[in-house]
Amino acid sequence: MIRISWDIDSKRWYHHEQNVMVVWGAADDPLPFSPSLKKDFSFTLKKNDFNKAGPIIGILTSSKKNLPFIGNIDTFIRLTRYVHEQGGLAVVFSAMDVSLSSIHGYTLSPGDSKWRRVKIPPPDFVYNRIPYHKDEASQEFQSLIAWLDNFSIRYFNHCFFSKWQTYLIMNDNPYLQRFLPETMRLSSKQQLRDFLNEHNQIMIKPCAKSKGKGIFSLEWKQDGTISYKSNNGIAYTHLDHLWSIIHNRKDLIMQPFVKRKQYHARPFDYRILVQKLEEDWHVTGYGIRCTGRSRLTTHVPSGGKLLPAETAPLDMKIIRRMSSEIGKALDRATGPIGEFSIDLGVDSENRYWIFEINSKPMVFDENDIQKKSIERWYQQILWMTGFAASDIKGPSPTHTIVKGG
Ligand SMILES: Nc1ncnc2c1ncn2[C@@H]1O[C@H](COP(=O)(O)OP(=O)(O)O)[C@@H](O)[C@H]1O
Ligand SMILES: [Mg+2]
Repeated sequence: MIRISWDIDSKRWYHHEQNVMVVWGAADDPLPFSPSLKKDFSFTLKKNDFNKAGPIIGILTSSKKNLPFIGNIDTFIRLTRYVHEQGGLAVVFSAMDVSLSSIHGYTLSPGDSKWRRVKIPPPDFVYNRIPYHKDEASQEFQSLIAWLDNFSIRYFNHCFFSKWQTYLIMNDNPYLQRFLPETMRLSSKQQLRDFLNEHNQIMIKPCAKSKGKGIFSLEWKQDGTISYKSNNGIAYTHLDHLWSIIHNRKDLIMQPFVKRKQYHARPFDYRILVQKLEEDWHVTGYGIRCTGRSRLTTHVPSGGKLLPAETAPLDMKIIRRMSSEIGKALDRATGPIGEFSIDLGVDSENRYWIFEINSKPMVFDENDIQKKSIERWYQQILWMTGFAASDIKGPSPTHTIVKGG
């Protein structure tokens, strides 16, 4: 371990070990020496055998006019605090904060827990938590990925997944095929009519949105009308009218509506958190969510409720194999990923259906999953950046934990 401190006057970091040449960051930049701790604030970093201090973790998010960064601030605080506790420096930044060979980002000062603007060299690792799909479609994002590659900076996760892209990747895998609801891109009125005729009730979802936004189900009624249900309520319509509204949308997929198991007359489904440890995929835990009253999806922000995992346990033999196959398939087909969550439904015949894979899992409300996930997250980063994981506090997370809830 090595102590470093930030000097507000010179706007530089210093270490305080006499007669030692210390480097840090992805480019092995020298870390200057100063005999005394600077007055502003200081952190403890790990030190490897080559006198390299670190790791410096960049938490990548987006910025907005007048706001240096946006996103899930509570998560950023939790991650930053954890890194600082364990040894390391975490800095939140957006693509706008990157210059040729440094980043101006924000870290939490230990004394008053305030965000402070600091300058860091290219970090050892970048954790992508950009909150919106559209921000990853920007030129800035592409330049940032090139910048990371230029310094050989390891990172996950590469980007949000598109539902259609993950469907195609999983559908290539014979083991996973059995868990995939039939999925089609919506391209014509006739095709929509045929799909509805075949399944009677279907789910339509935008490929690149999350948290239930833009999702609706359609169902034929006896009188030839269609019931249209979203998280905002139910409406009755006709196919022609519906088509006139959605015909321009190029981003919709459709699936048969899976009749999920119910708890007190409310459908429920599962969120399974899967994380990579070294080269293997592990199930960290799972939670059960049931729909809110008269709601379609189970997202907690849309009224979904948590159920204890004991309510309806999953067959972990299947879930472990499923998780590992998904992890391997996605790793091969997309950029680097270190974690994902599976949205899984179980129907009344106990068949498992994969609804979606998320590359940026929402924080789990279950405390034990939250705790395990942050430990594993950092353990994997330490492994990827070559900093010893041995002095991570807490129980060794090298085995698979199956309990959720
Ligand atoms: N084919 C389906 N049948 C029944 N319910 C579904 C289906 N697909 C999704 N859902 C429900 O809608 C929720 C949101 O769908 P999902 O594909 O996870 O999109 P997102 O979370 O990105 O909005 C799921 O968690 C599940 O509750
Ligand atoms: Mg989902």
